[in-house]
Amino acid sequence: MIKTIQLEKELTKPLYLQLYSQIKRLIEERKLQAHDKLPSIRRLAEELQVNTVTIVNGYNVLEEEGLVYKKVGSGTFVMPNEEIKDKLEPSKEESDELELKKREGIINFGTVAPSPSLFPIQSFKRLLNQVLDRDQGYAFGYQKSQGYLPLRESIAQYVEKYQIEIGSEQIQIVSGAQQGLDVLAKTFLDYGDTVFVERPTYPGAISAFKSRKVELIDIPIEKDGLNLKKLEKLLKRYKPKFLYLMPNFQNPTGYSYSLDKKKELLNLADQYELLIIEDDCVSDLSYLGQPRKSLKALDMEDKVIYLKSFSKLYMPGLRLAFMIIPSSYCEDILLSKYLSDIFTDGLVQRVLDLYFRKEDWQEQLNCLKEKYSQRYQVMITALKKYLPSDIDYIEPEGGLNLWLKLPQQISVSKLHKTLRKDGVNIAPGALFYHTKPRKNRIRLSIAAVTCQQIETGIQRLGQRLKEELEEEKDYRFDDSLMPLV
Ligand SMILES: Cc1ncc(COP(=O)(O)O)c(C=O)c1O
Repeated sequence: MIKTIQLEKELTKPLYLQLYSQIKRLIEERKLQAHDKLPSIRRLAEELQVNTVTIVNGYNVLEEEGLVYKKVGSGTFVMPNEEIKDKLEPSKEESDELELKKREGIINFGTVAPSPSLFPIQSFKRLLNQVLDRDQGYAFGYQKSQGYLPLRESIAQYVEKYQIEIGSEQIQIVSGAQQGLDVLAKTFLDYGDTVFVERPTYPGAISAFKSRKVELIDIPIEKDGLNLKKLEKLLKRYKPKFLYLMPNFQNPTGYSYSLDKKKELLNLADQYELLIIEDDCVSDLSYLGQPRKSLKALDMEDKVIYLKSFSKLYMPGLRLAFMIIPSSYCEDILLSKYLSDIFTDGLVQRVLDLYFRKEDWQEQLNCLKEKYSQRYQVMITALKKYLPSDIDYIEPEGGLNLWLKLPQQISVSKLHKTLRKDGVNIAPGALFYHTKPRKNRIRLSIAAVTCQQIETGIQRLGQRLKEELEEEKDYRFDDSLMPLV
């Protein structure tokens, strides 16, 4: 089995970690059994044509994770199954089953909080230990408000892949994107100011801006982005402090702006001196077609503040996000962050930094994308199979959300209640409007549901929708209910 191992020097992932991942995979797949002896360090180094230190380091990581044990003078052996059982990431079937059990049967399309089974716990544990060994008490001391410098450097390097070229001094680390929104609200907004938002939009942003007693004006989002005619008309009338938007896989609609609209929007921003806040939670999760460009990558005039959360791509409990800030605003934003909580947890910043430096961050993204993409495909197939044909939606080709427009006669609040009894939760669309909510929209998210749950849940949704539509038809044509003339 060891013969299947191949280390590739061109990859950015260090060789010892490639070795570790591949042996771990062999153990997970039970291709290496309890007490199997791993090849000697010298023999494997010769076979793979690498330095013996690579093998020693790879074996050390396996030992740290409790996947192998060493016997002095004899070599390295695979741990017995019972002992490693809880140290392995659960297999897909196991984690799906676990997920099902944990949620006590509720099929939750109503949340964008990702399934805990997708969190990279083992690598986090290992890197956490490395940070503690390396930095000791410094990891718990006061940190710089702007964020841990090595992490800011890692992020600056990482966003280059997305054609965003900035220095670490333009990055501000925040404790989650929600805090980012709050910090921006504190920095820019005062009583009586105006803010433009998409219609519909993320309710957490509405709350953060409203807390500053501002006037929110919403601009309809269409399937290819904001209605720019409406935006321009409003820009002639108002001088908003900023426009808040999500150009890729918007929450709640899943819509993405076309490249033309992104460029046109930046032209308008230039013309009307409009500051834009781009909230980018999930643009990395593009399952089909071209990767989506962020507005920031196209922003030549420094009109965009870019906000990115690690909640959907890593783990929400870490409360980590960052902002890329045009230099003229850096000082004011830094002060607001300082006044909010002084700094973001230094320990988790250090672990995330090691994740970028030592682990292959790309591998984490690829793994997430693969899992979410499977769910997305199952969701699209199930919607086509089970929903009545008069339900309108687009296939967003990425992200976590689908936005359904139901026939006017369907009551979403009744549907929500009935589905809860069926063990299915959905997000009523009205939650995402701050004025005059559209009553016949719902958001379905694939973040916290397994493929099996999607199939079952959409079947139940389809059934209820058909019943509601039938009831409505019967009601309309039931002449016993017609007034006697
Ligand atoms: C669009 C959007 N922005 C911000 C947030 C908040 O993210 P965080 O967990 O980083 O605070 C969310 C959470 O769902 C979101 O959907």
